Amino acid sequence: MTAKEIRQAFLDFFASKGHIIVPSAPIVVKNDPTLMFTNAGMNQFKDVFLGEAPAKAPRVADTQRCLRVSGKHNDLEEVGIDTYHHTMFEMLGNWSFGDYFKKEAVDWSWELLTEVYKLDKSRLYVTYFEGDEKEGLEKDTETYELWKQYVDEANILPGNKKDNFWEMGETGPCGPCSEIHFDSRPDNERAEVSGATLVNADHDQVIEIWNNVFMQFNRIKDGSLHPLPAKHVDTGMGFERLVRVLQGKSSNYDTDVFQPMIQFIAEKSGKKYNSAAKPGDADWADAVAMRVLADHIRAISFAIADGQLPASNKAGYVIRRILRRAVRYSYQTLNFKEPFFNELVPLLAEQFKGVFDELYSQKDFVQKVILEEEVAFLRTLSAGIRRFNELTSIFASITSVEYPEGTIKDIPTGRKIKGEHAFELSDTYGFPIDLTELMAREQGFAVDMEGFEQALQTQKLRSRAATAVSAGDWVVLRGGDNTEFTGYDEMLTQAEILKYRKVTTQGKEQYQLVLNRTPFYAEGGGQVGDTGNLMSEWYDEKKGNLNFEITDTKKENGLIIHYANLSPYYDMETGEQKEWELPNPMPTRFQAAINMGNRIMTNANHSATHLLHAALKETLGEHVNQKGSLVNPDQLRFDFSHFSKVTDDDIEVLERIVNQKVREAIPLKEERSVRYDDAIASGVTALFGEKYGDYVRVITFDDKFSKELCGGTHVQNTAEIGFFKITGESAVAAGVRRIEAITSYHSQDYIQAQSRQIKALKDLLKNPNDLSKSIESLIEDNNRMKKELEKAVLMKASGLKDQLAKTAEEINGINFIAQRVELPNADAVKTLAYHLKDIVPNLFLVLAADINGKPSITVIIDETLVKEKGLHAGNIVKELAKEVKGGGGGQPFFATAGGSDLSGINNALAKAKSFVS
Ligand code: ALA
Repeated sequence: MTAKEIRQAFLDFFASKGHIIVPSAPIVVKNDPTLMFTNAGMNQFKDVFLGEAPAKAPRVADTQRCLRVSGKHNDLEEVGIDTYHHTMFEMLGNWSFGDYFKKEAVDWSWELLTEVYKLDKSRLYVTYFEGDEKEGLEKDTETYELWKQYVDEANILPGNKKDNFWEMGETGPCGPCSEIHFDSRPDNERAEVSGATLVNADHDQVIEIWNNVFMQFNRIKDGSLHPLPAKHVDTGMGFERLVRVLQGKSSNYDTDVFQPMIQFIAEKSGKKYNSAAKPGDADWADAVAMRVLADHIRAISFAIADGQLPASNKAGYVIRRILRRAVRYSYQTLNFKEPFFNELVPLLAEQFKGVFDELYSQKDFVQKVILEEEVAFLRTLSAGIRRFNELTSIFASITSVEYPEGTIKDIPTGRKIKGEHAFELSDTYGFPIDLTELMAREQGFAVDMEGFEQALQTQKLRSRAATAVSAGDWVVLRGGDNTEFTGYDEMLTQAEILKYRKVTTQGKEQYQLVLNRTPFYAEGGGQVGDTGNLMSEWYDEKKGNLNFEITDTKKENGLIIHYANLSPYYDMETGEQKEWELPNPMPTRFQAAINMGNRIMTNANHSATHLLHAALKETLGEHVNQKGSLVNPDQLRFDFSHFSKVTDDDIEVLERIVNQKVREAIPLKEERSVRYDDAIASGVTALFGEKYGDYVRVITFDDKFSKELCGGTHVQNTAEIGFFKITGESAVAAGVRRIEAITSYHSQDYIQAQSRQIKALKDLLKNPNDLSKSIESLIEDNNRMKKELEKAVLMKASGLKDQLAKTAEEINGINFIAQRVELPNADAVKTLAYHLKDIVPNLFLVLAADINGKPSITVIIDETLVKEKGLHAGNIVKELAKEVKGGGGGQPFFATAGGSDLSGINNALAKAKSFVS
């Protein structure tokens, strides 16, 4: 079977068992602070397991793109070195949400593996959870009994908490699991050593292919386990491993999942891929490098396609690290000195067409992003490698090395790269620390990680000191965390404070408030948070109502947080402004009012963003996808994928289309709860890499023009936008352009300012018919006159030459001239000085001039004098400059100085003589 057929057989099998086939979630996780990347098929169902969201169907199955490069599940170190770990891999999974449980899971996995895929039963091993006393977890005898129907007892193995209790992360859903392993060793080896002893022992031919998890618990932050509301099945089969087993290969890279890519790399590098190479073989390094490239391109491409660009922090940095790891192999081992890695993208996109179409539809963009990253890293890579070799070669001379106890495995003491050096490699050459570690390991070095962390911390502390925030404990006034958002319909809402806390940012105190209902929109989808104020129902006879000024609104783990300053009050008696102490008890009922003017402008800018997005697709093409946006009361900013500058003509077309839609006065169509599938079917614009719920909000302006999934606030009618004007177009990253624009009275102000300026220019030029032409001719005139002036000055200088030559005074065999000259610039003085040198032998010349109000001194000394008398113009001019309160220097023959005191010129000229006599 081909890989494609194998994947389809899995999906068909579970469809036949009543499962709905669902799409893969994006590989980049946006809404879960415990996770950066999807690391298991079950991630998208976490809420269902926890009982926080209903299931789409009781049984589902899919193939999910996963990344295990950070956090609890991290395989990066193994990738390329071994033959069965990957950064990105596909996880085939079937799920029961409170429906079937262990029996069906066991029956069906056996049926699929042995009857559909026809795997050799004697090579299959299964495991079950042996229990854990400390956690209070029992042995899973039920699963053991279920397997016994099919599997030889010798092939059923108990496993401990590490191998047979699966957890999503530090917290989250978890439960005992049962793994299925396959032994692909040749028969003679199997006869000698039983496969049972090699299960979960890092043997590359006895590998786990499938894990069936029986979800029963939720692990919470304090480490304790809590039973889930229902029991579920969560399974995950490593697709690339399954293909390898079914295609009878001993390496995942020998299957049709990876071979086309490997062969392409081999061909381009002019090397051969030897799958059987062992460490120490001459072609081992090449084989590792080819596997790394073939693997890493998948992780990086899918992350970028799902919206995660390489960056210098968080998830973006993880992607950059993997990318740089690949580029290092490509450059150093495979000898690609020019960018190459990005060339793998088209092949990959083709391979996943029809499986994960996200990549194919954005392949040019993804390739361009990788190319730019490569170019940037290649710029410092060779210098970094040189520095790295310097650091390690210091040890090459060490002949005897000790291996004391407790040191890092296989690496003798002393062979350690200092923390500060590892930091230098990262800070100056852009080497991610795991790249330094990897390169170090290749040469038998360790890295002093503690020292590295220390250097990093020192740097972080320095930059963080400025932005330190400390938060107090929440004070709960009324239970609950749930805020009802009223801001689509109201600008003013009666609300109660659920809880509040004091926070200190850079010494400034503020409050954070959570309300039961709020009209304040929390920053999201590019739209900034609302500002406004809260006024208490309660009031004090003397001080009046309690007032909070809301400076921002943000979401934090699902909470809508209002950032509030307590407003001062006016003392009724003295009229003085005074600070409140929070009253006790704290009033809870408030009138929450957003700043209407700001919101109205924000609405206009947000709706204009939608119109612009649609206009861009219409004008530039369907490849335009949103890559970021900012909407505030003053302007809108829209980033999108596109390769070249948007021309001035296209900008005008965009403005025309958007303003046409404004003039059409299209009413807003807002649908708050549409089934996601229906919305997509109706052709809405959804963002790549965004995870949407089953029900979504759809914003439409003209069914045939703009339809977007959006949670933001909008105008009721496009006419409110007034007038749309683009003010800027620029590049923000590889393949990403940015348009900035304004609307409503801001564009009116802008246009008025522009026409005011043009009017002023016309007035200055006495109302010419053609403004540009008349400025052009002004510039031409100016250039011509400049040239003429230069000529005149030069003529004057050469006229001066003869006059000055006559003033030469002979002292000790030196022709001495020291004069003040009237010339407008330094060049003219210099020209004059050189001319004099040509006609006066043994010249010692000092010229002083007033250049634009500042004294300037020039000294020229004939070469023979320099040689014979040891005179030095540079030193002399320094001395002379003191007289004009300035400084300068130069060569022995020629030097200049500037100063600030014109009145010292005569003294300077007089002083010059002392050097001759
Ligand atoms: N969630 C389980 C795993 O990732 C199936 O292994």
